[in-house]
Amino acid sequence: MKYFIAANWKLNKTIGETREFLRSFIPAVQNVTDVDIVVAPPFTSLSAAAEEIKDTNVQLSAQDLFWEEKGAYTGEISPLMLLDAGCKHVIIGHSERRQYFSEEDVIVNRKIKAAKKAGLGVIFCVGESLAEREAGKTFDVIKREVESGLAEVDSDNLVVAYEPIWAIGTGKTASNEQAQEVHAFIRKILGNLYGDKAQGIRILYGGSVTPDNVDGLMACKDVNGALVGGASLKPDSFAKIVSFNKEN
Ligand code: PGA
Repeated sequence: MKYFIAANWKLNKTIGETREFLRSFIPAVQNVTDVDIVVAPPFTSLSAAAEEIKDTNVQLSAQDLFWEEKGAYTGEISPLMLLDAGCKHVIIGHSERRQYFSEEDVIVNRKIKAAKKAGLGVIFCVGESLAEREAGKTFDVIKREVESGLAEVDSDNLVVAYEPIWAIGTGKTASNEQAQEVHAFIRKILGNLYGDKAQGIRILYGGSVTPDNVDGLMACKDVNGALVGGASLKPDSFAKIVSFNKEN
């Protein structure tokens, strides 16, 4: 299975900074052929990024969308607008959306359906908080998020990202064993939903991935890529992550 590694820039980078990043990043990864390389800039930088990545091995993702195609929804961005701006993928259900913007499972599900209907690839995020992990609820939370988010959704063009909230932006990575354990569990739930097709769904790990820990994480059986925040903001650091060592 081809690895899938995406940069989630969150609320970072102007148009100029986006162009500057890509002009240094693209040459550094041009020989990487065995990884789907994806960058997710903020909405305002998408068109500029689309120009920069044209005819390269880098793909474009948005960080969110709204489920309606058009209409009176001040401030929102539709799936068709993302396609128009050059996006191939969209991140949906990131824990920061769930936490700060009250995105519940039903909203996440609606967004996934809208994205897929428009032909966008979906990077669907799930993950437990520290309190949930400590209370022994990790698997319950993951099961609920995966099943609700994917209700009436097929498995085409779907990537799932496991991002333990306690590992995001904290420098506290899940151990390889912790990641593998939850990834295998997600694979099992996907198997219940999609049968054999679950084997072909890429499950990314996210949460303080760096050039130093990427090799071990990617060597885990059910880890098929990464969603990278902080360490994706510098071209050299993200290029190192994308060029991780596959010999492990
Ligand atoms: P981080 O963020 O790599 O900065 O922990 C990951 C994410 O939230 O996608």
